[in-house]
Amino acid sequence: MKHFAKTTAVITGAASGFGLETSRIAARRGMNVVMADVQQDALDRAAAEIAAMGASVLPYRLDVSKAAEVEALGAATMARFGAPSIVFNNAGVGAGGLIWENTVADWDWVIGVNVMGVAHGIRVFTPMMLAAATKDPAYEGHIVNTASMAGLINAPNMGVYNVSKHAVVAMTETLYQDLHLVTEQIGASVLCPFFVPTGITESQRNRPQALAADAPTKSQLIGKAMNDRAVGRGKVSAADVAGFVFDAIEAGRFYIYSHPKSLSSVQTRLEDIMQIRNPTDPFAGKPEIGVELKAALRGAQ
Ligand SMILES: NC(=O)c1ccc[n+]([C@@H]2O[C@H](COP(=O)([O-])OP(=O)(O)OC[C@H]3O[C@@H](n4cnc5c(N)ncnc54)[C@H](O)[C@@H]3O)[C@@H](O)[C@H]2O)c1
Repeated sequence: MKHFAKTTAVITGAASGFGLETSRIAARRGMNVVMADVQQDALDRAAAEIAAMGASVLPYRLDVSKAAEVEALGAATMARFGAPSIVFNNAGVGAGGLIWENTVADWDWVIGVNVMGVAHGIRVFTPMMLAAATKDPAYEGHIVNTASMAGLINAPNMGVYNVSKHAVVAMTETLYQDLHLVTEQIGASVLCPFFVPTGITESQRNRPQALAADAPTKSQLIGKAMNDRAVGRGKVSAADVAGFVFDAIEAGRFYIYSHPKSLSSVQTRLEDIMQIRNPTDPFAGKPEIGVELKAALRGAQ
């Protein structure tokens, strides 16, 4: 995709982190920005900032896990700006702990937001974009879905999140292939960041009461502490990642990474699969972390 000015970006999770940073770039590029998020106060602040940059902004409060709310977002976007050129299905939440300790509510929440949120975005916006492409041979569109490195490898003690992000990679690879069956005018990319400082480790702030968490288990507390540390130490910023997203849209590149060096663990996993070898110790390169985690999990209650 080469032309951004005067077209429209729809961004979910736009009130914080990658969503806010991509909103800033979209505004700098002269795009209209549909900013969708579940957290009203953060959305109000973010939308005011982007509007002050001179962009036409449609702030929209929704829960992306709810089919009808994403459908209403689609209708509101169409009514205000017409078919978008960029759709960034990015809203997501994190939850950790040993996989057998996750409650039904944990699964419903994380799969609802991370998987069904993206599925609804694809289901609602792709037909609009295809119609725009049919009507106008100059139309260009691109859909970016946020997965994670957790969509390509399976680190322990974060199973629900891993499952959700593998689903997003599968969904987006399929979307890419399906789009190519029917059009050359719409591309797709999957964003797979490693640890980047954002609000992600505080995802529980937006957890709905109906899917409230039980008191955290020991493994969940340990996982949260480890993630806080890893995310907090991240050297690549959310603004850097947003820049990588726009670079990839422009270049038509499918896989977007924040830390390409971390791909060696993807290679190890794929070699395990190809060689029918049992999963490699994820801490082989940093044994002290594995020792610490095992000691913490096996220690006295
Ligand atoms: N930061 C990282 O290290 C990292 C790494 C890999 C993947 N990711 C992914 O990046 C995406 C963006 O997260 P971030 O890191 O910018 O975190 P963030 O918490 O700063 O931003 C996420 C935004 O999504 C919104 N949101 C949460 N639930 C929602 C819902 N049900 N409906 C609509 N909006 C909702 C939040 O209010 C928040 O504004 C997520 O999908 C996350 O899983 C983050």
